[in-house]
Amino acid sequence: MNQELSGQKFGQFFVYGVKEMILLIDVCVRGEHSRTRELAECYLKDKKFTRLALAEEDIQPLDKSRLEKRQKLIEKGDFSDEMFRYAKQFAQADEIVIAAPYWDLSFPALLKIYIENICVVGVTFDYLSDGTSKSRCKAKKLTYITTSGGVIPERNFGYDYIRAVAEEFFKIEKFEYIKAEKFDIYGEDHKAIMENAKNKIFFGK
Ligand SMILES: Cc1cc2nc3c(=O)[nH]c(=O)nc-3n(C[C@H](O)[C@H](O)[C@H](O)COP(=O)(O)O)c2cc1C
Repeated sequence: MNQELSGQKFGQFFVYGVKEMILLIDVCVRGEHSRTRELAECYLKDKKFTRLALAEEDIQPLDKSRLEKRQKLIEKGDFSDEMFRYAKQFAQADEIVIAAPYWDLSFPALLKIYIENICVVGVTFDYLSDGTSKSRCKAKKLTYITTSGGVIPERNFGYDYIRAVAEEFFKIEKFEYIKAEKFDIYGEDHKAIMENAKNKIFFGK
C-alpha cells in the first residue's frame, strides 16, 4: 500500500527492492510549533516515512453504534469498511514511530482513540485459544518520542502503556524511547535542552 520500489545501482546493474514503510504516528496537537514534532523529524532525518497526523484526521472513539457495527464486521471477517483503515495501515508498517507530547502524565487522548482504532482482531492481531494473542503486524520496532514541561516521573504511564500494548498485541520486540524534559520550567535553557536531545539521537550521548 504505502510501499515504493527503489533502485540501487551495483556496477552496471540496477537491483530493485521493496522499500520499508516507516509509519510516523504524529500526535503533536500544536502542529508546526510542537517540540515533540521537531524531535521526531530530527530522528527521521533523511528517512522516508508516512506521516499520520492524528489531529488532522476524522478519527472517532468507539461509541455504542460504532462498537456494534465493528463487532458485526469482525465476526463476518469483512474489513473493507473505512473504520479499519488505521488498523490496516498499522499492520502493514515495517517500523513505527510515535511522536506524542507528555500530557497529564501520559499523552493526548487522540492517541488512545487511535489505539482503539488499531486493536482489531483479524487485522492487527488474533486471540489464541489459551487467551494469548498472535500478531498480524509486520513491525518489529517501535520508537516513542515525547517532550514534557516538567520531569517525567518513574511511573511513566505514557510510554509504558504504549509499550505494553505493542508487546502484548502486536509482538513488537524492539523499543526505543526518546524524551526531552523541562521545557516549561522557567530559567531552563530550552534551546540547549532541544540541542542535547538531538545530539543524543545523532551521537548517542
Ligand atoms: C494539556 C497539557 C497537559 C500537560 N501535562 C503535562 C504534565 O502532566 N507534565 C508535564 O511535565 N508537562 C505537561 N504539559 C507540558 C508539555 O508536556 C510540554 O509543554 C511539551 O513540551 C509540549 O509538547 P509539544 O511542544 O510537542 O506540544 C502539558 C501540556 C498540555 C498542553
